[in-house]
Amino acid sequence: MHVLGMLSGLLVLLAACSGPAHSAIITENNLPILWAEASSQLSDLPQQDNIVTINPWNYQQRMTLYRLQLAASDQYMGSMGPNTTEGNPLWSLPLQLGWKLRSGRLLDPTSATTCGQESDSMCISGQSWWACVNYYLSVIPFLAAVQKGVIGDGQLQVQIQTPSDAVQDYCTSYTDCSTKFPDLMAKWEAFYQGMKDLSVAAITDVEKKDQILGLMWAAQQFSLQTASSTCQEKLEHYSYPEKAFAESWLSSADFVAATHFQSTVERSVVFMTPLPSRVLREGDQAPNIQDLSPEENHTLSIFNWMRNMNSVLGGTLVRMWRHAMCSQKAREQGQTLLQDLTLNPKFALTTVFSILSEMSTNC
Ligand SMILES: *[C@@H]1O[C@H](CO)[C@@H](O)[C@H](O)[C@H]1NC(C)=O
Ligand SMILES: *[C@@H]1O[C@H](CO)[C@@H](O)[C@H](O)[C@H]1NC(C)=O
Repeated sequence: MHVLGMLSGLLVLLAACSGPAHSAIITENNLPILWAEASSQLSDLPQQDNIVTINPWNYQQRMTLYRLQLAASDQYMGSMGPNTTEGNPLWSLPLQLGWKLRSGRLLDPTSATTCGQESDSMCISGQSWWACVNYYLSVIPFLAAVQKGVIGDGQLQVQIQTPSDAVQDYCTSYTDCSTKFPDLMAKWEAFYQGMKDLSVAAITDVEKKDQILGLMWAAQQFSLQTASSTCQEKLEHYSYPEKAFAESWLSSADFVAATHFQSTVERSVVFMTPLPSRVLREGDQAPNIQDLSPEENHTLSIFNWMRNMNSVLGGTLVRMWRHAMCSQKAREQGQTLLQDLTLNPKFALTTVFSILSEMSTNC
């Protein structure tokens, strides 16, 4: 315990010395990209006979799905800190969407259409792997929030438009989506229901927070798991380095989720800023990609390391990590460790194993 305490103190110090990482711009006025352009009221959306229609293949409308979820969930996030708007852990989702837009990951990777290019910059392509994965992190949670009456009055129906440039393999309503992905929908409904129930439960704020975050990360992980098989074909449109990055990006969520990370704007930006600011091309090899910043180069190398290490060890790293994150206190230490691992170039990767086993013995 003492060793770990000293070690993490030292690491925090080192991380502070290496200065904040900055490369990609993923916020505007400390909010996700084009947040102000997204609607903040359900009534702003086209509506007829109590059916709201949404086009998630337009960036602002997809962002609206997030803006409505954030606004509607604030009142249940009292355990997240004195300011529930700032403490809301759903912020990482719209921030990620902004990074995907700015890094060119939402455009049509087949180049068959101009969707997402300068002339049609708000278009989200149905062929983009990143947009496909995000579908399960935006549309599905939104439908669950509507179903649970967190958004709307519980009577509202939502119709989701299909993309114009892709085979129509996306689900389009609560009924359709929950038929195709029953377990996934159940996870997001459990998050929204749990958030409501826990907000008034007779437990401490620290426990509420940890449990709400646990439900949110369980749902997010299920989304990624669903997306990794459902969106698989779309990965073929990308270079080998981009595919490898995409896969390690998916598995990085395992590490973040296990710590029950409170993904506010401030805390998420730290992890997202060093993500690659453009789609990777054939021949890109971290940490030697000339037009990326040292921080982006570093993050990519760590992603590759985590992925390789985990596959060499047959999933042992993830298992060790999950096992070590056995208590609320351990999960807090895990968040620090994650920060050191991804942001501190001086951090010796091999020490991860000794730290994890040390943590595990305290479970
Ligand atoms: C909470 O934070 C937001 C964003 O920083 C700010 O606009 C708002 O005024 C704050 N609310 C309160 C009650 O302090
Ligand atoms: C990315 O890393 C490589 C090697 O470390 C370096 O040559 C390249 O200049 C880096 N990018 C920047 C902007 O530092």
